[in-house]
Amino acid sequence: MATEKTSTGSSGDNKGKPWSLHPTARGLRDWDGDPVPPTFPRRFWGLGLADVEPTKDSKEAYEAVVEWAQGLASQQERDGRRVCANRAGYGRGLCLSGPYGTLKTTIAAAALYDIHRQQGATVGFVRFPDLLEARRPPQQNKQKDRFRSSHYVDHDANELEHLEEAVRRADVLLLDDVGSERVVKDSGFAAEILESTLRKRFDAGRPTLITTNLLESDWETRYDERIASFLHEVCREYLVLGGPDLRMQS
Ligand SMILES: Nc1ncnc2c1ncn2[C@@H]1O[C@H](COP(=O)(O)OP(=O)(O)OP(=O)(O)O)[C@@H](O)[C@H]1O
Ligand SMILES: [Mg+2]
Repeated sequence: MATEKTSTGSSGDNKGKPWSLHPTARGLRDWDGDPVPPTFPRRFWGLGLADVEPTKDSKEAYEAVVEWAQGLASQQERDGRRVCANRAGYGRGLCLSGPYGTLKTTIAAAALYDIHRQQGATVGFVRFPDLLEARRPPQQNKQKDRFRSSHYVDHDANELEHLEEAVRRADVLLLDDVGSERVVKDSGFAAEILESTLRKRFDAGRPTLITTNLLESDWETRYDERIASFLHEVCREYLVLGGPDLRMQS
């Protein structure tokens, strides 16, 4: 995370070019040749935190995300290893929770884009229900996940490979929609995948941003006590966003 790159905020250097006609159009183009990570929704790519205007109910979380993203820059390569000046923050992400349409994904994806552009980190975007479905044993896969995405991702034959690559290799990962997966009674499968994913990344010093509709108090019932406890370690803060569903207003 060393080289400083220019942010492509709304006041960015592509202003006046044909593709700046529509704000979301910027995200559809690798206008400087920087490829969109395979499972990263194209509509979010190209949108930095400066492009997101938080509501009064998401402002506090937004500011915490900005501060967290800036703090990641203190992770430096030393002797080929990524180390952190502040050991207490090493590998720790954030959890953004709240009702539908309160900008959780928008803010988290914008943070990842900035971290990539400004700090040179590799970033990944994975919907947790997609990861589960891709890994689910065949006998549990008869009924397709009704939350199966993807209004977001253009699926292709290499999807599983791309999801796995993002989970394992991205310096910073957005694990989106945790808790919106199909519940398979008594399987423990979701809890197992969630814990191993978060733990491996945390141990490797790779932070994960989580978005969820779950309240902090829901995690123990939804998954288990162990994950509810680990959540406090893997996430520096459990941020709560509120307000009306913005999708209903646009
Ligand atoms: N100021 C704004 N900046 C960005 N998006 C906005 C804004 N106001 C309204 N929107 C709209 O709000 C929508 C919802 O945002 P987002 O997908 O981030 O919500 P979410 O909290 O992740 O919801 P969910 O819990 O359903 O996943 C966006 O797709 C966008 O169309
Ligand atoms: Mg979302």
